[in-house]
Amino acid sequence: MQALSKNFFLYLSNNKTLDRLAKRWGPKFGASQIVGGETFEEAIPLIKQLNEQGLHLTVDHLGEFVNSEEVAKERAHECVETIRHIHQHQLNSEVSLKLTSLGLDIRHDLVWDNMIMIMEEAKKCNVVVTIDMEDSTRTEKTLDIYKSLKEKYDNVGTVIQSYLYRTDQDIDDLNTYNPYLRLVKGAYKEPSDVAFTDKPDVDNNLKHIIKKNLLNGHYTAIASHDDAMIDFTKQFAKENNIQTDQFEFQMLYGMRNQTQLDLVKEGYKVRVYLPYGDDWYGYFMRRLAERPANVAFALKGVFKK
Ligand code: FDA
Repeated sequence: MQALSKNFFLYLSNNKTLDRLAKRWGPKFGASQIVGGETFEEAIPLIKQLNEQGLHLTVDHLGEFVNSEEVAKERAHECVETIRHIHQHQLNSEVSLKLTSLGLDIRHDLVWDNMIMIMEEAKKCNVVVTIDMEDSTRTEKTLDIYKSLKEKYDNVGTVIQSYLYRTDQDIDDLNTYNPYLRLVKGAYKEPSDVAFTDKPDVDNNLKHIIKKNLLNGHYTAIASHDDAMIDFTKQFAKENNIQTDQFEFQMLYGMRNQTQLDLVKEGYKVRVYLPYGDDWYGYFMRRLAERPANVAFALKGVFKK
C-alpha cells in the first residue's frame, strides 16, 4: 500500500498538465504549509521569525527541469537577487538550487556560466550555495560541476543520496575536495540497477556515509526527519569525540517543527530548507510520496488557504 502511494505521487510529480495548473492556482492544497511564499520578499518575515527561534535556513527558489535558455538565465538572475536580499536583510540563510533550473539539460556552458555568476555574488555576499541532487541520470554531471566549482569556491556544497549504489565511491572521490555535503536518503523514483529499493538498505547506507564523512573530518549536514538517523548521529558523534560544530541537522520547512526546536535547545545546529516560488508542484508531490501521512496534513491545508 505504502509502495503504491509512493509510486502514485512520484508519477504525479512528473505530470506536466497538473504542474501547469498548479502554477496558476498558487500554493494551495496544503502546499502553503511547506512553501514560504510565491516570492522571496514574501518569505522574508518567516525567515526572520525562524532565525529568531535559533534556526538556520537554506532557501530554494522552486523550479526544475527548465528547457528554455531564456528561463534558465532568468532563474540564475533571480538566484543572484535572492543572495543580495539575504545579505541586505542580514538573514541567516544559505541558498539551495537545482542545476536543471539553470540549464543542466540544455548546454554545459549555459549551466556553468549561470553557476559562476551565482557563485561570484555568493562569494561577495558571504552566502553558502548548496547544489541539490536530482535523479540518477544527472548525478555524474552534477558532481562534475560541483568538483570544478569547489576548486574555485569554498562556499559551495552538494547533496549525496544514500539510495544510490555509487554513493560510497562518491564519498571517497569527494574526500580530497574538502566537501560540504548534505547527506540524504534520496527522493526520486530510481530503477533497481542504480539504487537500493529496500528501505533498510537505504537507511543502513545513510548511516554508513554519515560515519564515513564525519570520520573523514568534513563538516556534514544530516538531512532527515527520521529519529533513527538523528539519534544515530548524536550517538556516533559522542562516541567519536566529534564536536557539535562539525555537523548540523537539516529538515524541510513544515516537517517536525517541534523536533527542530528541541534539537536547537539541546545545543545542535539545525537548518530548515525553505522553498518559495510558484513552481511548487513537483516538490509537493515528492513530499507526499515520501510520507503518505503528509496527505492528511495536506488535505487539512485545503481548508486553510
Ligand atoms: P523517511 O521518509 O525515510 O521516514 C523515516 C521515518 O522518519 C518515518 O517513518 C517517520 O517516523 C519519520 N518521519 C519522516 N518524515 C516525517 C515527517 N514529516 N513528520 C514526522 N515524522 C517523519 N532528496 C534528494 O533526492 N535530493 C536533495 O537534494 C534533497 N535535499 C533535501 C534537503 C533536506 C533539508 C531534506 C530534509 C531532505 C532532502 N531530500 C533530498 C529528501 C530526502 O532524500 C528524503 O526523501 C526525505 O528527507 C525523506 O527521508 P527521511 O530520512 O526524512 O525520512
